[in-house]
Amino acid sequence: MTKPRLIVTRKLPDAVEDRLKAHFAVALNPSDQPFSQERLVAAMQQGDAILPTVSDRIDAQVIEAAGRRRCRIISNFGVGVSNIDLRAAEFAGLPVTNTPGVLTDATADIAILLMLSVTRRAWEMESMLRAGKWTGFAPAMNLGSGLQGKVLGIIGMGRIGQAVAERAYFGFGMKIVYVNRSARDLPQLPTATALGTVDELMELSDVVSLHAPGGGENSHLIGEAQLKLMKPGAFLINTARGDLIDERALTNALVERRIAGAGLDVFAEEPRVPAVLRRLNNVALLPHLGSATLETRTAMGMKAADNLIAFFDGKSPPDLVG
Ligand code: DGY
Repeated sequence: MTKPRLIVTRKLPDAVEDRLKAHFAVALNPSDQPFSQERLVAAMQQGDAILPTVSDRIDAQVIEAAGRRRCRIISNFGVGVSNIDLRAAEFAGLPVTNTPGVLTDATADIAILLMLSVTRRAWEMESMLRAGKWTGFAPAMNLGSGLQGKVLGIIGMGRIGQAVAERAYFGFGMKIVYVNRSARDLPQLPTATALGTVDELMELSDVVSLHAPGGGENSHLIGEAQLKLMKPGAFLINTARGDLIDERALTNALVERRIAGAGLDVFAEEPRVPAVLRRLNNVALLPHLGSATLETRTAMGMKAADNLIAFFDGKSPPDLVG
């Protein structure tokens, strides 16, 4: 039997590529450069399936331009699917799958890394030291803020939000408040307070960490108005999606020191990071590292493969979205 043709848009961990090759006629991307929109259209016309990553924008134009030529399934490499127009995909009869569960711990760790970095001013101080400007220990200098007893506000109490809450509660003795789009049982957290609105959470929290999906109505969930509600000593952490925050409003708040700082792993127009943000010392910046461990990226690839294998075996893929 001929193998289905699979187009993979980026280099994947070797073990994942080997597994895919055992099941599919795989077209890899030897240059590992992002596909243009035209190339995505061509890929969907030439492959029975496409395996894009979260940085490939499969919008309505791409799906419409590809027509109903060949592609039968989109297996996204990532849990977030805001890079794909799900309505257009549904209209075109294209199932979409993602890779939930396997990147929870890695992403929660990066949220904590950013939280510690920015509250303890780690990268700011490291840069000062590397620049040869450290003049020695001084009791009243280089002081950050401790996390013990502070309020962590989590927006989006899904798997990753919960993993961050557990780390902050058990590891640092933080108090947890959260908003989530639906009611939630949280058996693993002895105390966590559900709040009714994002605004309430912004007012109460010493650190706010975002774990909601991007796109749609969540775009600019945190804008000028929400930033104005934050305490002057509060910090904002984003490891979810860049479009959750109005980046210009955040930059202004950081420049004017209206909030104490931010830790960002995701940006509105990746890989573009506004120059002003890059110059500020009250923001810690990472290049979308949330899931970037070999173990996690391999597990994500294996999940993307599981979904494709199930589909071409005539079964329902385990991680169908929507
Ligand atoms: C995802 O899976 O959505 C992440 O952003 C990639 O790390």
